[in-house]
Amino acid sequence: MNPKIKEIKEQLEQFRVEAGEHLEQFRLQFLSKKSDLQQLLGEIKEVTPDLRKEFGQAVNNLKQYAQELYEMHKNRVENEATVFNSEIDVTRPATLYSLGAMHPVSIVMNEVCEIFEKIGFSSVSGPDIEDDWHVFSALNFPLEHPARDMQDTFFVNVNPEFLLRTHTSSLQVRTMESCPPPIRVICPGRVYRNETITARSHCIFHQVEGLYIANEVSFAEMKQVLLFFAQEMFGTDTKIRLRPSYFPFTEPSAEMDIECKICGGKGCNVCKQSGWVEILGCGMVDPNVLDNCGINSKEYSGYAFGMGIERMAMLKYKINDIRLFFENDVRFLGQFANA
Ligand code: DAH
Repeated sequence: MNPKIKEIKEQLEQFRVEAGEHLEQFRLQFLSKKSDLQQLLGEIKEVTPDLRKEFGQAVNNLKQYAQELYEMHKNRVENEATVFNSEIDVTRPATLYSLGAMHPVSIVMNEVCEIFEKIGFSSVSGPDIEDDWHVFSALNFPLEHPARDMQDTFFVNVNPEFLLRTHTSSLQVRTMESCPPPIRVICPGRVYRNETITARSHCIFHQVEGLYIANEVSFAEMKQVLLFFAQEMFGTDTKIRLRPSYFPFTEPSAEMDIECKICGGKGCNVCKQSGWVEILGCGMVDPNVLDNCGINSKEYSGYAFGMGIERMAMLKYKINDIRLFFENDVRFLGQFANA
């Protein structure tokens, strides 16, 4: 390539047009009558005929290139000018859309599941609309048990054989019916009870159920697993105690308390001055339940436990009204964004 053409081409490509005045400089340097490029055009006729065609074409291409670049720079500079001179302030920081946050119930539910998953439990789920067998009968609730009463249970109008599960223990039954032992599951889910809504109780809440079935499972193993859970959840210095209790589906049954985190065991309103707060029910799975679900109770034994998530979240975040979880007030929910 002719060295002069090469030089002009390089200059064209290096020329920076950032504002209107640069555009004029560009025009003067490359497109005006006095420009080097214009001079080259004038030189075409002086070149010997055998080289003229090639030279002429190269110079004309360069001129066309210069013109295209000029148009491109011009369009850009004019466009920028309209944006910057208009009413719109393009330098203003953008409005930030705040991200949604996890619901405190989901946070605590996930935390509970993660703790048990660490020690080999897997998570299972099942239907909210259940039948009597999975919620009551298979779990050894006698027919006249008050929990079956219309006051506690929401029945489905069109077919009262179906009801909204009152506890996630129904998932114990579903798991035992479908999986051979050994079984080690946790079952998180929403439950429903026909109860008056107050600061301490609601008709909707969440539970996590746990079930372990194998050969020769002991009460002591259950206690150790629950101690591990309490200390992972509430801190390594957390103390637990088991009190004898009654559930139709476990024998023996117990309720587990943790030492009150609010007063450190000294006694306060939350623990009703006792220094202890109940967090779950548990026990050894009643042999009748195993047999009902097709598991040989002579061969297998197990433990089960169930806990309310809202109660746990109330303790953890020191919330004194369960209704707050269901009102979806973003001023409340936003506080858990980084919890
Ligand atoms: N299902 C019980 C309830 O809703 C909680 C419970 C207690 C679950 C003891 C269990 C258990 O698995 O062993 O109150």
